[in-house]
Amino acid sequence: MDLLVNGKQVRVNADPDSSLLFALRDELNLTGAKYGCGEGQCGACTVLINGAAMRSCVTPLRTTAGKQITTIEGLARDGKLHPMQEAFIEADAMQCGYCTGGMILSAVSMLRKDPAPSEARIRQGLEGNICRCGTYPRIVAAVRMASRNLQGGRA
Ligand code: FES
Ligand code: FES
Repeated sequence: MDLLVNGKQVRVNADPDSSLLFALRDELNLTGAKYGCGEGQCGACTVLINGAAMRSCVTPLRTTAGKQITTIEGLARDGKLHPMQEAFIEADAMQCGYCTGGMILSAVSMLRKDPAPSEARIRQGLEGNICRCGTYPRIVAAVRMASRNLQGGRA
């Protein structure tokens, strides 16, 4: 089937009932989306589908036809990192990095709906994303930084 991934039309041969995550990783070599729980519970596999954060491990491929899929590899524009990526680097909001792509995409999706979330709202918005390294305080700081930067027009 044909998919629209990171702005490009691509073809995958996987079973349409299989998960989007495996098509991204195994066929398209987009390994930024990680396999964590495989049950929609940890957020490591998060991608954007039409701008909304979705768990690709529990998203059947067939439901994604014609939709815009964005992985962490496709978030930068014209060689420039997204302000959320820059903020994660500046705030040092990662340790092993396994959760980081999913955290960033979930945070991008959250700021689209709520550009200036409170700290409580950020914590609530990211509670479905698990960080086993416990970098939550720095992740929250990064999202607040990105929110401020985006509000200030740096995006
Ligand atoms: S691997 Fe998809 S939510 Fe955990
Ligand atoms: S940085 Fe290791 S799981 Fe989050």
